[in-house]
Amino acid sequence: MEGRLKLSVLISGRGSNLQALIDASLAPGFPAEIVRVISNIPGAGGLERASTAGIPTAVVPHKDYPDRESFESALDQEIRSAGTELIALAGFMRLLTEGFVDEWRDRLINIHPSLLPSFKGLHTHERALEAGVRYTGCTVHYVRPAMDEGPIIVQSAVPVLSGDDADTLAGRVLAQEHAIYPLAVRLIAEGRVQVDGERAIIKGENLQAPCATINPLV
Ligand code: GRF
Repeated sequence: MEGRLKLSVLISGRGSNLQALIDASLAPGFPAEIVRVISNIPGAGGLERASTAGIPTAVVPHKDYPDRESFESALDQEIRSAGTELIALAGFMRLLTEGFVDEWRDRLINIHPSLLPSFKGLHTHERALEAGVRYTGCTVHYVRPAMDEGPIIVQSAVPVLSGDDADTLAGRVLAQEHAIYPLAVRLIAEGRVQVDGERAIIKGENLQAPCATINPLV
């Protein structure tokens, strides 16, 4: 398919969200293609997934660079050389500088395993359990310089069950991550997402609905 949105995916680990994006992009009619997978960790599991799918990979180890700026400049070079139009962070464990984030403003998205703005940062499932919330979930959002902030594109709510520990909850949330990340990329690629201040608006009638899913008790 011609004219598909060129997506680069940045990873640091196992890459299950990357896999969901790969699988979606292989489906006929999906409006985005993955042009490059970049990891800051040599040997990250997701690199293997990309190679298996025939997607070009690059490793830009942050440890090889004296500061964040030079690391990001190498990263930026890889991203640009692939003709990237949208960057998806998928378990990419480096904080990006304001300069990089501003350069890619509204062309840089992230997935986070909580219903933002609750539980920014790490260990989201442990903290959701400690707080006793009845629902948690996951969020795809545009990236802003402050960590885990930015216009929300898609969210899915997941119930916290009485017997849950962090692992069971993480598993249930992860299944939803794999559904909403491809959905968010599709909406962007179809030109349906418009950023209005700190909110992302989904254009078109009734299109807001599929961007907020609640998963029933199982
Ligand atoms: C996911 O839970 C994602 O939300 C978070 O990091 C994890 C990455 O998992 N940002 P994977 O590498 O995609 O399997």
